[in-house]
Parts: sequence; structure tokens; C-alpha cells
Amino acid sequence: MTLKLVRLTSAVLLASQVHATAIDCLTRSSSSTLTKLINCFNGFTVPHDFYNPSTYAAAQPTTNELNGWIAAVNTLLSTDGDCSSAVLDTFLAPSYRIDLFTEREGAFKSYCILSEKSATSGVYNRGWGLMVVPATTAAISRTVHFSAPHPLADFNTPQQAAELFGATGGRSLLIHGRNRTAYYSYSDSPTCCVPGPTGTTYYKCDAAHDNTQPFFNALMTIRTYQNLHGGCPNDSCAYLQLHGKGTGADSCPSDAIFLSAGLGNGAASVAWYTDDTDRPIKRLKTELQHVFSGTIALPSDDTSCDLTATRNIFGRVLNGVPFGDICIGSASQFIHAEQAKDYRLAPNYDEWTTAIQAAL
Ligand SMILES: *[C@@H]1O[C@H](CO)[C@@H](O)[C@H](O)[C@H]1NC(C)=O
Ligand SMILES: *[C@@H]1O[C@H](CO)[C@@H](O)[C@H](O)[C@H]1NC(C)=O
Repeated sequence: MTLKLVRLTSAVLLASQVHATAIDCLTRSSSSTLTKLINCFNGFTVPHDFYNPSTYAAAQPTTNELNGWIAAVNTLLSTDGDCSSAVLDTFLAPSYRIDLFTEREGAFKSYCILSEKSATSGVYNRGWGLMVVPATTAAISRTVHFSAPHPLADFNTPQQAAELFGATGGRSLLIHGRNRTAYYSYSDSPTCCVPGPTGTTYYKCDAAHDNTQPFFNALMTIRTYQNLHGGCPNDSCAYLQLHGKGTGADSCPSDAIFLSAGLGNGAASVAWYTDDTDRPIKRLKTELQHVFSGTIALPSDDTSCDLTATRNIFGRVLNGVPFGDICIGSASQFIHAEQAKDYRLAPNYDEWTTAIQAAL
């Protein structure tokens, strides 16, 4: 009797779980600010070891879908005014949407959001990510493109990126939709792009190291758009990618925040960080030192720290590695910020905001 009941319950549960449901973050009353909205979406991130070969293949975009995704990124970047009537490509429209979102507390700002439409059992069906721009060009204060490639794994970086993007009037915000290890335990799970350092494997869903993640296509589209619209001048523009570092001995524990432009820490790179040229990363270091008491380091300050992001594929592009070589190239306006945990959390949002405003 009891057994039968249990079986019936799990059958009913199973049947309801396999149905895709609409993601309702945009209409939830708890999504009253951009950061709270991003926190809601973050809950749908594809978790560790979720995919098998067939579900991963089904989640990846077709060529037509990818073209639609790139077109949607361009649509968002050229938004000025009401984007609620933005038209999505017919191949993309079944999976993604563009909405106008206005905050209902705090700064009451308006944004245009490209986000995924549906989930199954609380997990994104596709997991390509999410993008945000200010709803009007008048609301853009600085040409800083924020991104968070490692949701869940680098705890709170999507929320932090959203908060800093909103508070500083940034140009765009891009957040990946998959944990970097979402496709994990199969022979073809490691990325075919950048191999990890000795002892570390980089996986296909890792958007900082795999060039088949739509997150990477979106970053490339953002860069191309920026280059066609005034370029990315040192004094006012940067691509700021937020990461979180661990606490182990190999995580540069003496540094609170380790900033890098994706160059190494050999002599030529150290010279790049220490020469007389004014660069966004140097200014950001100075301004972060003004607001935080922990150590803020560049590769030239701590040559023993390996978190130099030389394997970051977007960093490679920005540092002039030809597109065809990004998976093999050795190693701007790229700023990779590895942060100890406290520095990513809400009590330090204001300090970070002040530093970005002063540096850029
Ligand atoms: C995300 O991946 C990291 C490892 O990359 C793992 O430690 C963490 O538990 C994962 N989180 C979720 C919710 O999948
Ligand atoms: C920007 O950087 C380039 C080289 O990276 C340098 O030649 C130029 O002088 C810099 N501009 C400013 C305003 O510092």
C-alpha cells in the first residue's frame, strides 16, 4: 500500500518535471532591481555534471540559431528607447526573448534584457546566457562591458557584475548560463580549445576557455560592435570580466584582488604593466587600492601568482592573437579580476563602484 503510493507520487512528479516551463523572473515581484532579477535568472544556471552527450548536443545552438543569437546581441547594442517591440530572428524566438525591464525600487533604471524563455525542472533548456544593456543610450555613463563567464563556480560574480554594471552606468552586461563543469564526465567533455594548465582540465561549458559557448560569440559580437562604434579608447573603455578565486595555496592567497590583462608575468609582460602608458587596468588598480585595504595586485607585483588569464580566449582576442589562433596562441583593454570571496559580496559593491567610476 505504502509502496504503491510512493510509486504513484514519483510517477506524477516525473511527468510534471519533464515539461518545460516558462521562466518568470521578469514578472516576479521579488525581481525589483536588476541585481535581484539577475539573481533569479542565476538560479536556472545549468549545474555541475548535468549534461550527457545527447542533452548537451541538443542544448547547443544550430547554425541558424547561433546567427539569430548574434543578431540579437547586435539588436541589444543598438537599442535606444523602447526595446519591448524588438523583433527576434525566427530561429531564436522560440528559445529567447528581449524585454524592457524597469526597476521598481532603488535607482528605478530601465534596461533591455535578452534572456532565455524556458526551463525544465528549474534548469535552462539551452543555457547560452543572458545579456543586458541600458534601455536608452543616454543612460550609458561609460563604455565598460561587464561579463561573468563562471556562474555558480565563481560564487556571486553574476550578481556582482549586474550591480556594478547598473551602478556605474556600464555599456553591457553578459552572463553565462552554464556552470563551467555542466558537461563533465564524458570523454569529449574537455574543451577542444584551450587545454588547462598541468593538473587542471578545462571543460566545454567553461565560457572563458571554450570557443563553442554562445557566450563567447556574444563577447566577439560586442567587441566588433564596439570597434565599429568609436573603438575602445584606453581612457574611457574596458572589458571587465569578473572572476572569483579559491582559498587554496594555488589561489594567490596573499592577494585580495588580482587584476590581469591576459598577458603573462614574464619580463615583456611585466614591462607592459609597469611602463609609462596609461592603461585602464593600472587606473583600476590605483582606485581599488583607495577603497580597499586588502592587497590589489597586477602580474608585475606578484610574479608568483599564476592567475594571469593568459588562457582566457577573449583576453587573447583583445591582446591581438589572430582569431584562428586563440586556442593555441600564447597570450589592452581587457581586465580580468580574480577576487577573494568577500570582495565579490554585497558589502563591497559600493567600493567597487567608486573605483570603476574613478578609473573609467
Ligand atoms: C559548479 O561547478 C563547480 C566546479 O566547477 C562546483 O564546485 C560547484 O559545486 C558547481 N555548482 C553547481 C550548483 O553546479
Ligand atoms: C593607449 O594605449 C596605446 C598602446 O596600448 C598607447 O599607444 C596610447 O598612447 C594610449 N593612449 C593613452 C591616452 O594613454
